[in-house]
Amino acid sequence: MIRSADIALEAKGVVRRYSLGKGLWFGGGGRFVQAVAGVDLAVKRGETLAIVGESGCGKSTLARMLLRLEAPDEGEVWFDGADIGKLSERQMRPLRRKLQIVFQDPFASLNPRMTLGEIVEEPLRVHGLGNAAARRQRVREMLELVGLGSARLDRYPHEFSGGQRQRIGIARALVAGPEIVVGDEPVSALDVSVQAQVINLLQELKAKLGLTLVVITHDLGVVRHMADRVGVMYLGRMVELGPTDTIFAEPRHPYTQALLAAVPKPDPRQRGQGRLLEGDLPSPANPPPGCRFHTRCPHVADRCRSVEPVLEDDRADHATACHRWREVGVRTPVVEAAPSAARRRRDALWLAARRRQEAAVAASSQAEGRHQP
Ligand SMILES: Nc1ncnc2c1ncn2[C@@H]1O[C@H](COP(=O)(O)OP(=O)(O)OP(=O)(O)O)[C@@H](O)[C@H]1O
Ligand code: SF4
Ligand SMILES: [Mg+2]
Repeated sequence: MIRSADIALEAKGVVRRYSLGKGLWFGGGGRFVQAVAGVDLAVKRGETLAIVGESGCGKSTLARMLLRLEAPDEGEVWFDGADIGKLSERQMRPLRRKLQIVFQDPFASLNPRMTLGEIVEEPLRVHGLGNAAARRQRVREMLELVGLGSARLDRYPHEFSGGQRQRIGIARALVAGPEIVVGDEPVSALDVSVQAQVINLLQELKAKLGLTLVVITHDLGVVRHMADRVGVMYLGRMVELGPTDTIFAEPRHPYTQALLAAVPKPDPRQRGQGRLLEGDLPSPANPPPGCRFHTRCPHVADRCRSVEPVLEDDRADHATACHRWREVGVRTPVVEAAPSAARRRRDALWLAARRRQEAAVAASSQAEGRHQP
């Protein structure tokens, strides 16, 4: 159980539906996609929480609701003592600078007609922070922090590489001093070697600035190296949530087991042991009744077809939404395939970043301890 004082942001039963259009006859049948179908999620202050799941399972929609880029149709999102899902745009304005996002595609997310200086300064202007000189100074500091200290402010996005653009996106997200940053696939559009640098940068900035990070990703390598906890989504629902090490060592939900089993194994004796995911993701416009995973689950039983399992937490904060997780048991631990040289380099960089982060956190808690009366 997470103590409420430790919660930075919390979604309670959030639902988001998108209309599928009006249809041809009599105004259509009101068909809709339920992109997020009732998710509870508490994000702990200072943690890195990863959200994983197949394409279309609702990860980005959930993230947009957490940041109030869109309002939930049902449920609540609590931040800074308010249900931000219910706030007006005007009431939201002072909170916006505390909730920021880093997008997947650094080519699409930066305005091509704005210069580097204007792009990074814009959030400060929008929130009325500082005068022109102070803003310019802050932009310079941010660019220094993200490793672009020597870049000329009058250059345009197309003059930068993919990795540099993502650094600009990060500088822009951080310039107004956010508390929570969501990265929606923040490195998946980048080259593998650049991915490591950007992940490292996010980790370092997180430690330095005391941020809370939510990272949406398809890459289980990113999860393993970056995240303190991981939430697994399936068809609009959270099906498993817990500490990253626990989820990798003891995945309980058959869907999580299948995701991890799909990671290729180096040892030929282990190949074929993990059961891979069969069949397509059902349409979120017409989800299966009962457990949404039952059409693809190797352990399906009668009650799974009619009764939807709830996310049950244990004392180690490992939550699972499956009627049969105790019977299904833990699958073979997952061992990744022999990594490529690029992957090994990336892993080494991540490891180094993680150690630096842990050292920084330890040093700051020691410093805090010294200041206790
Ligand atoms: N604005 C929208 N209008 C209609 N349907 C939408 C909209 N946004 C998302 N959806 C639908 O909602 C579902 C969840 O979409 P979402 O983008 O949240 O998934 P995702 O897990 O982020 O997928 P990906 O990994 O591909 O980014 C999908 O079926 C998607 O088609
Ligand atoms: S509830 Fe049933 S169908 Fe769903 S994951 Fe568990 S065993 Fe499989
Ligand atoms: Mg997405």
